[in-house]
Amino acid sequence: MPPAPALDAIPPAAEVLAPVFAQYPLEVASAQGVWLTNTRGERVLDLYGGHAVAALGYGHPAWTAALARQAQLCQFQSNAVAMAVRARAAEQLTRFAQLPDARVFFVNSGAEANENALKIALRTTQRRHVAAIEFGFHGRTAAAGAVTWGAQAKWYGFPRAPFNVSFLPRGDARAIRASRRCAGAATRWAHSSYSMRCNAAWVARGNPSPPTSMASCRTC
Ligand SMILES: Cc1ncc(COP(=O)(O)O)c(C=O)c1O
Repeated sequence: MPPAPALDAIPPAAEVLAPVFAQYPLEVASAQGVWLTNTRGERVLDLYGGHAVAALGYGHPAWTAALARQAQLCQFQSNAVAMAVRARAAEQLTRFAQLPDARVFFVNSGAEANENALKIALRTTQRRHVAAIEFGFHGRTAAAGAVTWGAQAKWYGFPRAPFNVSFLPRGDARAIRASRRCAGAATRWAHSSYSMRCNAAWVARGNPSPPTSMASCRTC
């Protein structure tokens, strides 16, 4: 493992990083399996997984070997160049998602995934309105920010949303059920990014409207 840089060589985070989330009182130096080690050398059991993104745990030898192997072979080529590893990953993903007819577009972030899920929902339904849930977070790009509660007041907010958005009260199942004619709904209740991606997949499969938990607002 490469040695960690000396702490006194690193400027305080607030001087170099944009404010994003309120942070946990913990600075991670390294991680292995389900354990984090902080800069004081204390071990912390990680039940958080970086917003559930590092759910595989840390440093698994098969995973690090696969990454190293691919980095040595070729770490990147654009979508304009065919790579078998990309096609293989797409095939495995569609099999796992049980969407054999789907076409995969790999993106780099949750915000981009949500951005594209919204695009698919709007295009497929030809609707212009999206319902979101108060206090939900979906990312810092134009469309994902538009359905993120309070984004407009933040540094990453765009002056105008690319579509109409209604924010429904959190926990008000009736308001969500009552809303039927939106392109899609961005919910934070249960794995919002996942739900939105599923929602887009649902609409893209030719279903007339999203499943009930994904239904949307009255004002469309
Ligand atoms: C629920 C949810 N959706 C979307 C995102 C955006 O993901 P990314 O930061 O990878 O763009 C996040 C990131 O924290 C998130 O928590």
